[in-house]
Order: sequence, then structure tokens, then C-alpha cells
Amino acid sequence: MRVYCAKNYEEASTLAADLIAAQILLKPDSVLGLATGSTPIGAYQRLIAKYEAGELDLSQVKTMNLDEYRGLDSENPNGYRYFMNHQLFDHVNIKIENTNVPDGKKDPAQACGEYDAILERIGGIDLQLLGLGHNGHIGFNEPAEEFSKTTHCVDLSESTIEANARFFDSEDQVPRQAYTMGIQSIMQAKMILIMACGADKKEIVKKAFWGPICPQVPASVLQLHNNVILVGDEACLG
Ligand code: GLP
Repeated sequence: MRVYCAKNYEEASTLAADLIAAQILLKPDSVLGLATGSTPIGAYQRLIAKYEAGELDLSQVKTMNLDEYRGLDSENPNGYRYFMNHQLFDHVNIKIENTNVPDGKKDPAQACGEYDAILERIGGIDLQLLGLGHNGHIGFNEPAEEFSKTTHCVDLSESTIEANARFFDSEDQVPRQAYTMGIQSIMQAKMILIMACGADKKEIVKKAFWGPICPQVPASVLQLHNNVILVGDEACLG
């Protein structure tokens, strides 16, 4: 694993955006695995700036998002499809039909089965961007007894519901379930770029990357991947 400790969130976002842009320059038809949450927003803003400056062409890029809340449709401002459209896709020249997010309105078997079929058809992920939950979750793969494989429906943990309540009007509006790409699918990406910023992620970063590998800390599995870049800031990694 390569670790880059940036001074602050802004610098970490610039670094992450530079790495993603380099991937697209090297392989214009890259498949990017994308993440939601607050952490990647700065990187998305910088990718938009690069596109506006004529430095980046996403016309051939394809994307697979990690996860979606069960029950939320694409128009729901708290849904991850909406998030991606507003934070990135609507502002660059990516073809919307080349972007994929699990369908929160479908039942678990259909939504997850279809998503795995897309992943297979698309031929795997070149670069997977990840954030990190406070309990070590990646995507919505919560602490569990074993590492998950493919896309599946999860019951969100109380701590995740609490942490994500800030995006909703109240905590009881946070969906209790989500569809997420599995750990195995994430691990099959050729390169993984995980971002962790802020003092509140310090403990979990230590556990995940310098502690034992176990499904109770889902991100710890990344220690077994041979091409992981961790980008963080001094508050988190210093
Ligand atoms: C959500 C998402 C994750 C994300 C995590 C951390 O639970 N499903 O993909 O990594 O939140 O979010 P944040 O970056 O806001 O701390």
C-alpha cells in the first residue's frame, strides 16, 4: 500500500483528482468505481474543474458506483444516483448511459443480480475510489462475520445510520437497508484509491490498515490488495 499524507482535505482532494485524471489520460475508456459520502466531493469538484479547463475528457469513461439505499429512486436528493448526477455527472461530458448505480427501487434479488451482470459485462473496474466509514465499512459493507462477495442487500448498522443522518431531515428518514457491491468485487479492481480525512477517521484508519485483517473491520481486507493508494490528511494520518 502506498500512503500519501496531504496537509489538509483540499490537498488530499487535489491529489485524488490528479490520480483519477491520470488514470483517464492513460486509458480514456477506463471503468471507474465511484463512491459517495462527503469525502470524495472535493475530488469530484477538481475533476469538474479539469474538465472545464479542457484538461480532461470523460466521453469514453464508464462508471460503477458502490452502493445505493434500498427504496430511494433516482430523483430522491438523498439517493446516491442523485448525488452522483449533481456532484459530478451533470458537470462533465460523461455519457449518462455509461454511469451505473444500483437501482434502489428494485427488489434485492433483481437490483443486485442486474448490477453484478453489468459489472461482468463492463469487464471489471480499473480504478476504485473508496471512502471509509467510522466502523471500517467500505461501500455499505458493514462489519460482519465474513467478507461479502458480490452485490447484496445489507442491514445498515446503527452507527452508519447515525453518521449518515446528517444528510437527511431526521434520523428516522435514513433507510435501514442498502444495496452494495461486495468486498470480492471491490478487491477485483485493478487499483484502489481510498481517501480518509479528518481526526474522526484516525482510529479506524489505524485499525483498518495497521491492524489484523478481519471482516469485523471490512476495510482491513485492502491490506491484501497489491495496488492500493491511501490518500489522507495530517489530521487523519499525521
Ligand atoms: C457512506 C457510504 C460510503 C462512504 C461512507 C463515509 O456510508 N456508503 O461509501 O465511504 O459513507 O462517508 P464520509 O465520506 O461522509 O465520511
